[in-house]
Amino acid sequence: MADKRTAEILKGARAEIARAESSADLEQVRVKYLGRQGILTRLLRSLPALPAAERPEIGRQANLAKAEIETLLAGRLADVKAAERHRDLAARRPDLTLPGRRPTGGTLHPLTLVLDEIVEIFLGLGFAVAEGPEVESDFYNFEALNIPKDHPARDMQDTFYLSEDTLLRTHTSPVQIRTMKAQPPPVRIICPGKVYRRDADITHSPMFHQVEGLAVDRNISMGDLKGTLELFARELFGPATEIRFRPSFFPFTEPSAEMDVRCVACGGEGCRLCKQSGWLEILGSGMVHPRVLQMVGYDPEEVTGWAFGMGVERIAMLKYGIDDIRLFFDNDLRFLSQFSAS
Ligand code: PHE
Repeated sequence: MADKRTAEILKGARAEIARAESSADLEQVRVKYLGRQGILTRLLRSLPALPAAERPEIGRQANLAKAEIETLLAGRLADVKAAERHRDLAARRPDLTLPGRRPTGGTLHPLTLVLDEIVEIFLGLGFAVAEGPEVESDFYNFEALNIPKDHPARDMQDTFYLSEDTLLRTHTSPVQIRTMKAQPPPVRIICPGKVYRRDADITHSPMFHQVEGLAVDRNISMGDLKGTLELFARELFGPATEIRFRPSFFPFTEPSAEMDVRCVACGGEGCRLCKQSGWLEILGSGMVHPRVLQMVGYDPEEVTGWAFGMGVERIAMLKYGIDDIRLFFDNDLRFLSQFSAS
């Protein structure tokens, strides 16, 4: 026999659940019937007071009613939620007239820009590009460049050794040797590439880039070197760029010279960048040492040549006014995106 009270409660709950329009409505119904003071909850709580004979049957029906109400609430809640989401989406229809997001194009790395520019200038002068390995032997990096084992010049370059005889090249000069050994004169090449030294601060990076230049032929003179590099400097830094040569020393060139350009920051008046000198050193150069020519099988009585080597990071820093070399390698887009190709 159905208990009248349970049947009443169930009837009321069914009707109210069916009428509920929102999750808030349903929550009210739940509280009304199943909350701590809910109608059904109170009925269940009063069971112990009933006569022992009625208790099991009424209890069973009340529990069945509770389960049904819970199921109905859950079912209706799912429907109501779906309807609510539908209304919400309809209200937030996308505005198709808004402008789209443009994909951002990449930019070339500032070192690539400067390297390309340097290479272009020398290609225009009839130089060819030559390349060599970054893992080099002691012979090509030092020995063949007239830097024997005990030579103090080896201390100038803090070398990364891979074994007693192999190392990461400390300069692009070994490509001079490889090129000359592979072909007879005349030679007119530039060698762009990565080089490695154990050195790190705001102007030194353990990996950096150099461009080497080499010209060997009959009657090549220091005047050709000066003329070529002056033209190069004017192409790179502007037509009014002044240059000067200072005597220097490299084991593989004799005589040797360092080339300065007028300070790009102060125009020569003296500032922090040029340490008040008005000049900035940008490369090392000189006439190829006769011993180097001999070592690659060239006849120093027949041919002469000159060579130079420059650091690409340093030139890029001067050109763009960058004061910390590490910016090139941090890959921070705020830095990199400032260098568009134009
Ligand atoms: N190899 C030298 C350096 O790394 C530069 C250089 C190259 C000097 C060619 C003279 C001639 O410092």
